[in-house]
Amino acid sequence: MATSSPVQIDPERVGELTNRELAGLNARTARSSAMYERARQTLSGGVASSYQLRDPWPIYLVSGEGAAVSDVDGNRYWDFHNGFGSMVQGHAHPAIVEALRARAGLGTHFAAVTEDTIVVAEQLARRFGLERWRFVNSGSEATMDAIRIARALTGRDTIVKIFGSYHGHHDAVMVSIGVTLGMIGDRENLASIHYGAGIPKAVSDMTIAVPFNDAGAMERRIERLVKEGRPPACVIMEAAMMNLGVVLPERGYLEQVREITARHGVVLIFDEVKTGLAIAAGGATERFGVKPDMVTLAKTLGGGLPSGAIGGSERVMSVVEDGSVYQVGTYNGNPLSMAAARASLERVLTPAAYGHLDALNERIVSGCQGVIERHRLPGYAVGIGSKGCVTFSPTPIVDYETFKENQDIAVTELAWLWNMNRGIYMTPGREEEWTLSVAHTDEAVDAYIAAFEEMAGALTA
Ligand SMILES: Cc1ncc(COP(=O)(O)O)c(C=O)c1O
Repeated sequence: MATSSPVQIDPERVGELTNRELAGLNARTARSSAMYERARQTLSGGVASSYQLRDPWPIYLVSGEGAAVSDVDGNRYWDFHNGFGSMVQGHAHPAIVEALRARAGLGTHFAAVTEDTIVVAEQLARRFGLERWRFVNSGSEATMDAIRIARALTGRDTIVKIFGSYHGHHDAVMVSIGVTLGMIGDRENLASIHYGAGIPKAVSDMTIAVPFNDAGAMERRIERLVKEGRPPACVIMEAAMMNLGVVLPERGYLEQVREITARHGVVLIFDEVKTGLAIAAGGATERFGVKPDMVTLAKTLGGGLPSGAIGGSERVMSVVEDGSVYQVGTYNGNPLSMAAARASLERVLTPAAYGHLDALNERIVSGCQGVIERHRLPGYAVGIGSKGCVTFSPTPIVDYETFKENQDIAVTELAWLWNMNRGIYMTPGREEEWTLSVAHTDEAVDAYIAAFEEMAGALTA
């Protein structure tokens, strides 16, 4: 947690170091700059997704092997970004490469079920304790379909989410994220604000946001929605928030949420796109011991191939089975994705792998916390399973409001540049965290801690 008497970080010093590190990164990524000039002629903004944008240019990658990636300039990095938290298996894991090779020769797409899909569903049912599964191709598709299923089951339109949580890029959930502090609204009546243009107000008004780690506020808001004649179909949430760095649930919070949603007939969806298979074999559901009605998965599931899944109780998924909800998609259960997912579940993400990830994360979290304490930085290190981060804030972040109020953006941006110049490929963005893979070693983790120690020294010199 936060150090007792932190030093004041001098913003001018942060600015000087940022300029120096930016110049250094620009100098070592000249080929990325040239590739950007070419890419932007035809790819909008030079990237395939706006989350890949970066000023003055994105860093273009060539390859990944185990815990490392290489860029077009020949720079090699330890990968802590891991494809926005997808590659817990590490890059080009031999078991996954072998499964893909075997599958590619047998045909890669039929829009008919292959046995691997059934094996993956069986594995997920065991890991998450939910009986019925369907597959999609991304986290956004998973949350979109899960919400539709909840709406069909309950006959209700309104949905509740946590303020500041990201659940993908479809209209219903691109609401109340990335909002400036002054626009958040009253804690008991947080604003429903569309994230970016093109989202109909009629849709964003149906999404109601409540603060994380505050079961009382959730219950009061649900009760008001009931009185207003628009009770919610579902609460969709991450059991541990992974889009404000890492924010863990406070003791008893998830149990209370479970009890409140059950009492109001609201479907509880744990969005495990980031946590599922990444923080434990059975994700946050296993780790925190609270069973939702549905989970959504993606990222780690496909071992680097586009994939997603929805798991639900028999009752909840009955609306799919009886044909009321069309849960559909040409590429759902694609044979290549399912072959990779099966190899990952059976041969890579084993109990020993989770033991390794826990031990490594303990090492990186305590190493970073040691740096913070030695240099009396305002911040703390936090992690769970393969995920973690250093949060540059003098007080613990418990929800979106405390995040916006306290996180030091300038130091967060400096840390990214600092890491990149020292062979640490870190997830860009102030909301992000590291993801470790089974291929990471003490050496990789110690390189991260050493780079952080050097930055702490430069900041406090
Ligand atoms: C918790 C959560 N849900 C859903 C998504 C959307 O997943 P995708 O980008 O695969 O559509 C993300 C993506 O970061 C996420 O973090």
